[in-house]
Order: sequence, then C-alpha cells, then structure tokens
Amino acid sequence: MTPGPHPARIVVLVSGSGTNLQALLDACAETSYGARVVAVGADRPDIEGLARAERAGIPTFVRRVSDFETRDGWDSALTTLVERFEPDLVVLAGFMKLVSTDFLDRFLTLNTHPALCPSFPGMHGPQDELNYGVKVSCATLFVVDGGVDTGPIVAQTAVEVAEDDDAASLHERIKTAERAMLVDAVGRIAREGITVEGRRVRIGADAR
Ligand code: GRF
Repeated sequence: MTPGPHPARIVVLVSGSGTNLQALLDACAETSYGARVVAVGADRPDIEGLARAERAGIPTFVRRVSDFETRDGWDSALTTLVERFEPDLVVLAGFMKLVSTDFLDRFLTLNTHPALCPSFPGMHGPQDELNYGVKVSCATLFVVDGGVDTGPIVAQTAVEVAEDDDAASLHERIKTAERAMLVDAVGRIAREGITVEGRRVRIGADAR
C-alpha cells in the first residue's frame, strides 16, 4: 500500500467491546493522523463496538454467519459489502471470525493478537501464556494470511506478566499496549505506506 493524497480509508470489523476500534476512531479525529474509518462491520448485532461506531457517525453493517446457508455465502456477502467502502486497509479489531483467502486477496487486512506470535495462537492467548508460565507477554499486529494468527508481523510490544495475574488482568494490560501499537502502526502505514515481502514487513520510506 502506498500513501495517497487523501486520508487512507479503513474498514474495521468487530465482534465485541471495540476498544481497539475506539482508539482508532480517536486517532482519526486528528486530520494529521492520515486515515479515517469509513465503515464498521460486525458478525453479530448489539455489541458495544457497533455502538461506538454509531456514536461517531460511522456507517455500520452486520452480517451473521447463521443468516447464510453456507460459510462461503457469508464470506462473499462480507467481501462485497466491505468492497463497497473501497478500503485501503481492513482492520480486524477483535473480529472473531476467519475470513476467506478471496477476502484477503482483495484487501490488505491487519489483525492483532494478545500474545507473542507465533506462540500461543487462537482464542485463549493470555490464559495459554499463564499456563505456560511466561514472564513477558506481548501484543502482536500482523498481516492476516490464511492461518490462525500466523501472518507476517507488523509490530510487537512487550508486556510484563505480574505474579498475581489471571487471564483477565493480563489481557487488560495487553490491550492497553495493543491499542497504542495499533494506533501508531496504522497511522504510519497510512502516512508512509507498507511493503510485505514474504514474511518481512516494512513501513516507511521504502514502501511500495
Ligand atoms: C483484543 O485483545 C484482540 O487482540 C483480541 O480481542 C480483543 C478485542 O478487544 N482478538 P476490543 O473488542 O477491541 O476491546
């Protein structure tokens, strides 16, 4: 992705509380940030993530897998809808569904994971880290590929594990670091561009 003359168009997909979305919305309020959220989509209704978008006056949409006969049908409906907003970038911000390779071929798609990728992929990163006994956790921002939390890494930020952490307290601290990392990286990508070559990701002057 190369930076254009206008703010980069971002579509954000959410499934829950949307604190990462909120961080992006807050950052986009500054014109110097270089990006704007043009739509927010979800795989379920009645979630705080959608409410945050509505309060910010951003168009929203919901596509539930259960409303489609097949997963492919859902995926192609989601792809068509996202395409309508002509995003430069799609951000999965706590979106609890895997998207198809067709979707990923069309849109540069980023996701965050509350653990040090490639370790501890999947739904229970912070709990798996505690079970393993790690002393340092992480938030990872990556380019989504066909796997689960396996894509090329854009940014990582370390978070210390406290003696008395449980999964919830550790995840909350990771999320604080995750939001700062996401806002910083998305802004730099919007302003400076991004290049992905194999597993190597570069943001900045050399980005094509
Ligand atoms: C984040 O920690 C993200 O990494 C994980 O789910 C959480 C979403 O939080 N996949 P929020 O909905 O942005 O508050």
